[in-house]
Amino acid sequence: MIHLKELIAKKPVIAWALFLGTIGIGVGAGLLLSSITTRKAEAEFAYMTPNKISETEPRNEVWGANFPREFESYYQTQDTSFKSKYNGNKPIDMLAVDPRLVVLWAGYAFSKEYKQGRGHYYAVEDVRNVLRTGAPNDTNPGPQPGTCWTCKSPDVPRLMAKMGAKEFYHKKWSELGPEVVNSIGCADCHDAKTMALRITRPALVEAYQNMGKDITKATHQEMRSLVCAQCHVEYYFQGKEKYLVFPWTNGFTVENMEAYYDSVGHTDWVHSLSKTPMLKAQHPDFEIFKMGIHAERGLSCADCHMPYRSEGGQKFTDHHIQSPLNNVANSCQVCHREEATTLIKNVNDRQDKIIENRDRLEVALVKAHVEAKAAWDKGIDSVTMAPILQLIRKAQWRWDFVAASHGASFHAPVETSRIIGDGIQLAQEARVHLARILTKLGIEEVAYPDIGDKDKAQKFIGLDIPKLNAEKQVFLNTVVPQWLSKAKAREAGY
Ligand code: HEC
Ligand code: HEC
Ligand code: HEC
Ligand code: HEC
Repeated sequence: MIHLKELIAKKPVIAWALFLGTIGIGVGAGLLLSSITTRKAEAEFAYMTPNKISETEPRNEVWGANFPREFESYYQTQDTSFKSKYNGNKPIDMLAVDPRLVVLWAGYAFSKEYKQGRGHYYAVEDVRNVLRTGAPNDTNPGPQPGTCWTCKSPDVPRLMAKMGAKEFYHKKWSELGPEVVNSIGCADCHDAKTMALRITRPALVEAYQNMGKDITKATHQEMRSLVCAQCHVEYYFQGKEKYLVFPWTNGFTVENMEAYYDSVGHTDWVHSLSKTPMLKAQHPDFEIFKMGIHAERGLSCADCHMPYRSEGGQKFTDHHIQSPLNNVANSCQVCHREEATTLIKNVNDRQDKIIENRDRLEVALVKAHVEAKAAWDKGIDSVTMAPILQLIRKAQWRWDFVAASHGASFHAPVETSRIIGDGIQLAQEARVHLARILTKLGIEEVAYPDIGDKDKAQKFIGLDIPKLNAEKQVFLNTVVPQWLSKAKAREAGY
């Protein structure tokens, strides 16, 4: 074998050839590399900027032109065909499924209408449609404040940037009708320049401050839950300003938040049968989730509700936010080896068992409200009633905390069972006191009301639903079209 060294010694020209050849390869490789990076830049260019997006751009379609995969999957939240055993995206009338709810919320707008949530695509439409927002018109601004829009739309950060959060909350809901028209979307969770996750709702930032924490220090994985915690949390409207506050100063448990509400003397409404000063739980999804095993193992909401998806070799985040039971392969089986049917059964088992006791608590609460009413009707004094009403307030707060958080029975089954158990104990304690008082008042037994269906239950608490529905129709047919045409003219000017 001839060695290279010898060859070069015999024919020096080979050294030159090798030298030039190496340069050639180097230059060639360089050219190739530069061509690749240019192409990549071109590709990124084509991908990134059909639209230049402003920081407050509320229209999902405008962002969507730059990010078609994320946009198209977001758009699938339009689907309303999936129903799991207890959840899903069908607009189910919960008052018809469970007429006890009507009695539990007597005197409060939720007794008029309460539906199971649909997808994010419908948030704006659904809040207009629901009887709880009333039927505002030129002479009557309706019952709700601007605060009600806060969790519905990327028009909210746009408006808050313009007028400030305080002014936004304080306006009437109906005043902002022509301004809030785009349903939950990109600008709620993303920074327009970097596409990084961002927090757009001041209530969450302020709640962190009240806990002595700085949300700008949150990790990337925490952000994958915190974007959801802008809306899927317990909250209340503070004072006349209707300022949005998350009651987390003492912590996330049902007792921590109750202590907060008691300390500020907050009452959402007075129950029309029992005269109890009530608390309404909203949807403490984030707080309850934090108390479960998946949170403890470091998962975030996005891990199950926004798993990765592949399309044509491209991996991206699925923006079809929905029940993970409609997508077990991507949502669960990336970590769990069990069959989909087994995993679904695991979820349903936890729900079945908790709902069994939740229903017992509901029955006890309905009885407590009607028994308290019977005592009032016989002229009982408020000093005697005060401690009993406190027990009813506590028991129903626990029930609602669980019932309003649709994923709770799976997110944190042990904590959820504990809360329901506590609620049953408190409701029964109230009823023991009531039984003694009723005996003294000469009442042997209070009949369980005839609330076999939603109609009967709503009549029982004195609601005139046909009238409310008729007013709503007028609002939807006359006021909403004006809002929409004003919004269209405004957006044409962007
Ligand atoms: C700007 C407020 C807001 C943000 C942010 C938000 N949500 Fe929602 N979410 C809502 C509202 C409002 C609804 C109910 C929509 C309806 O029924 O019209 C909803 C509905 C849902 C539903 C039920 C949909 C269905 O099809 O069953 C799920 C699941 C959900 N959200 C999960 C999440 C997760 C996970 C995140 C974070 C990645 C998140 N949401 C972020 C406000 C928000
Ligand atoms: C409820 C919050 C939320 C909304 C609304 C939302 N996103 Fe996202 N988006 C996320 C999360 C969470 C991720 C994952 C980020 C991560 O882990 O780095 C993500 C990731 C992305 C990414 C990075 C690439 C990828 O697929 O992982 C893009 C691009 C994106 N979203 C575009 C959009 C667009 C366009 C819209 C509006 C149609 C939108 N997003 C609406 C929460 C949201
Ligand atoms: C380990 C997976 C997992 C994680 C993480 C997770 N969830 Fe869920 N979530 C579920 C399952 C399973 C259900 C029950 C779905 C059903 O019954 O159809 C559910 C239900 C829900 C629902 C009701 C859905 C519906 O169809 O009405 C909401 C809203 C929700 N989760 C929000 C969240 C939020 C917000 C977070 C983070 C704070 C979160 N989830 C974290 C698995 C998860
Ligand atoms: C990112 C990984 C990951 C994903 C995704 C995930 N899980 Fe888990 N899951 C875990 C871990 C970790 C545990 C705790 C088990 C342990 O540490 O031994 C757990 C525990 C469980 C448990 C037992 C909890 C209990 O209540 O005792 C069930 C049931 C479960 N997961 C179901 C699901 C379902 C259903 C989904 C999809 C909606 C899902 N998981 C998604 C990682 C995951």
